[in-house]
Parts: sequence; C-alpha cells; structure tokens
Amino acid sequence: MDKLKIAGGYPLTGTVRISGAKNSAVALIPATILADSPVTIEGLPEISDVELLKSLLEEIGGSVQFSNHEMTVDPSSMISMPLPNGKVKKLRASYYLMGAMLGRFKKAVIGLPGGCHLGPRPIDQHIKGFEALGASVTNEQGAIYLRADELVGARIYLDVVSVGATINIMLAAVRAKGRTIIENAAKEPEIIDVATLLTNMGAKIKGAGTDVIRIDGVDELHGCRHTIIPDRIEAGTYLILGAAVGEGILIDNIIPQHLESLIAKLREMGVPIETKDDQVFVGKADTFKAVDIKTLVYPGFPTDLQQPFTSLLTKAEGTSVVTDTIYGARFKHIDELRRMNANIKVEGRSAIISGPVKLQGAKVKASDLRAGASLVIAGLIAEGVTEITGVDHIDRGYSHLVEKLEGLGATIWREQLSKEEMEQMKQA
Ligand code: EPU
Repeated sequence: MDKLKIAGGYPLTGTVRISGAKNSAVALIPATILADSPVTIEGLPEISDVELLKSLLEEIGGSVQFSNHEMTVDPSSMISMPLPNGKVKKLRASYYLMGAMLGRFKKAVIGLPGGCHLGPRPIDQHIKGFEALGASVTNEQGAIYLRADELVGARIYLDVVSVGATINIMLAAVRAKGRTIIENAAKEPEIIDVATLLTNMGAKIKGAGTDVIRIDGVDELHGCRHTIIPDRIEAGTYLILGAAVGEGILIDNIIPQHLESLIAKLREMGVPIETKDDQVFVGKADTFKAVDIKTLVYPGFPTDLQQPFTSLLTKAEGTSVVTDTIYGARFKHIDELRRMNANIKVEGRSAIISGPVKLQGAKVKASDLRAGASLVIAGLIAEGVTEITGVDHIDRGYSHLVEKLEGLGATIWREQLSKEEMEQMKQA
C-alpha cells in the first residue's frame, strides 16, 4: 500500500488529457454481459474499478482482453455464477452485475455492493425496478438473490432520481418482453453513454438523457465497438485544481457542456475560463470571491465535485456555503482540511468555509475517492509537504494521477507505507 506526498505551494501550467469516464466504464463493462458476441470499449480509464470489473467478468466465464485503454469482452461463455462475496464488495458499481445478469440469465446472486462510504446508499429503487419487471428479489445473508421466469416490460416511476437505478433497470429491461418506461429517470451523461452502447448492441431505447426512458425489449443483443465519453468528474477536478494553483492550464478531451454548472461557479468566483470544442482553458485569478454551491442531480452541480471544490473555497475571500442535497454526510474530508489549517464547520448537510486561509502541509487520510481528490488539491495549494494515506480510494477513480500532475509541473510522488503505518491503517 502506498501514500502520496505532495510538495505544495508551486504554480502549475501545461496541458492535461482527461481519461474515459469512470462512472460510465463501471456500467459499460457489465453491460457487455448482455451481448452474444464480443464487445469492444475504447478509451477506458486505467483505474482499479475497471480492473476489478474485468476480473469479475472473468469469474463468470467471460474472456476479457484489456490493453491500451481498450477492452474486448467475449461474453459467449459466461454463466450465471453466484458472486456473493469477494471483489463485488469492493466496489459500488458491482450492482450493475445484478441488472445485466438478470437481463441475460434471468437469475443472479450478487453480494451487497461496497464503494465509498458517503452515508446511507440504499438500492431500493433498483430492486423496485427489478420487481416491476417480474423478478423476485431477496436478501439472503448479505447477498441479493434475483430470479425471474421471464422479464416483462413495465412502467416504473423512480421515487428518487438515481443514476444507478436508471442504468440498472435499463440493463434488465433491454432483453425483457415488451415495453418498459422509466419515469423520473436520472439524466446524467453516463446514462446516455450506456444507452448508446446498448443501442449499438441492438437494443431499442429512446429518451436517455431525459426523465422518461422508453425501452422496447429485444430477444438478442450482439457485439459492437463503442468509445466511452470523457470523465466529467476527473475533468472538473483538474478545472478546480487549475483554478486553485494553475497559471494557465489547458484541459483536453472534455465535453464543456457536461460541466456548465462548475464552469459557471468558477466564473462567479472570478476565474477566467475559455471553452473550445473539446478543451477548456483555465486562467489565473488573483483573488477569489466566496460562492455558495448546492449539489443537485444533473445538470446541477455534481455531488462528486463538492469535495474538490471545498479545497478551492479555502482561498476565497468571505464565507462560502457548500450544501450536499444528494449525500448529506459527504463531509469526511473536512476534518482533514482542518488539519491543514482550513476554517470550515459542518452544520447538517452544509459545510461553511471562511477564507482566505493559507493551507499548510499535514498528514491526512483520504476516506473516499473524492475526499482524496479534495486533499490532493489542498496539498497542491498548501505550503510544505502533505502526506495522504488511503490512496487506494484515489486509485479507484483517477487514472495516472501522479503522472498527469507531474506533467503540469507538480512535485508529487508515491511512497510505500511503513509497517507501522500499515498497522495504523488496519486499526483505523
Ligand atoms: N438512492 C436511494 N435509493 C436507491 C438509489 C439511490 O435512496 O435505490 C439515493 C442515494 O442514497 C442518493 C441519491 O439517491 O442520495 C442518488 O444516488 P444515485 O443512485 O444517483 O447514486 P449512485 O448511482 O449510487 C452514482 C455515482 C456516484 C455519484 C452519484 C450521484 C456511480 C458508480 N456512482 O452513484 O459517484 O456520486 O451517482 O451522482 O456511477 C463517485 O464517482 O465518487 C461517486 C460516488
């Protein structure tokens, strides 16, 4: 296990290229289960969640080749092998195996998913969808058992707008009999990406990206080639760090429209930003105005960028309020930022940030993926050396972080944890 070290306080410049979207990748890979011939996905990020899903597909009999960001999955020999334990518990997105395996085999056994601890993360809406399609769903000793004689299209209204439930129901419905209508569906770009792959595989889906998705079930899906969308959250993270410590950073391979809420907020703070076709240039601001943000479903401000944004707000003049309406407890980074001299208090679902303060390097711990991104940004801002443990969280979602930051001129490196530090991590 490694820790990250950052010698902060230096300006960054240059160009950074954004990888394929993690939150698409983790759905696209399970979606390949639904085909009867090989599916190739181009542009995948090299992150541990992708590696985990690759080995889960191999566990159920898939043949998977992954090199140079391209994965080819031959699903023809897959079987509905129960996956109650092991790797499924390491990532949240293993829940997509439920929809995909149910869709293909009409049965699946999948352990309850793991992933970042952001407070309660129920999957009741996924289950409501599977049941509406005719599956029986039971929780037996921490694993979800799904069984159906046949899946029949249904009208499903989501009580909570959920990315995961929307995609999972699409996966289960594409090979069901008849029409499925998902109402109050989530509209995130990753949903459109998954619908595009499924459509290329022969599925009939209309309305992805709106709040009503119509799916007409087909008997079979075939192989195809698909290029993943760029990661808007990784891109947003580099936009924020560019604003915080950049002296002109060009972000390449980005869809600027996916980040309109973030770009608007950065401009409100006084950060100069120019958008081009698939690039965004972040200029240097001399001072930053305090702003308030409230996380919302897409196209609102993404919850996944709330934590990185909080680090930038420590540089803003005045008081900023960050309210997370999606995950009200996504504030584990705040104590760590305080160790670095940030002046932040948490009240209910909000963090109140007073600035500007000079952050100082400290030993801190990433408790989840985006908390890790927030600490990396804080470490780049801070005077002195910051040491971040819990790097495995960061590796789940940021492809080649150290290399990309080095490319911008940052002094950042990985070191192995000592035996004592390993012990402390285990006890924590
Ligand atoms: N919710 C329910 N019941 C459900 C599903 C969700 O109450 O059955 C609630 C959740 O507790 C949450 C809200 O609905 O309050 C939204 O959750 P959603 O289902 O949309 O989240 P998710 O699909 O589990 C994805 C991303 C998260 C991202 C959220 C919100 C993946 C693998 N994960 O999670 O990404 O925060 O959408 O946009 O796509 C990350 O990348 O760091 C990350 C955590």
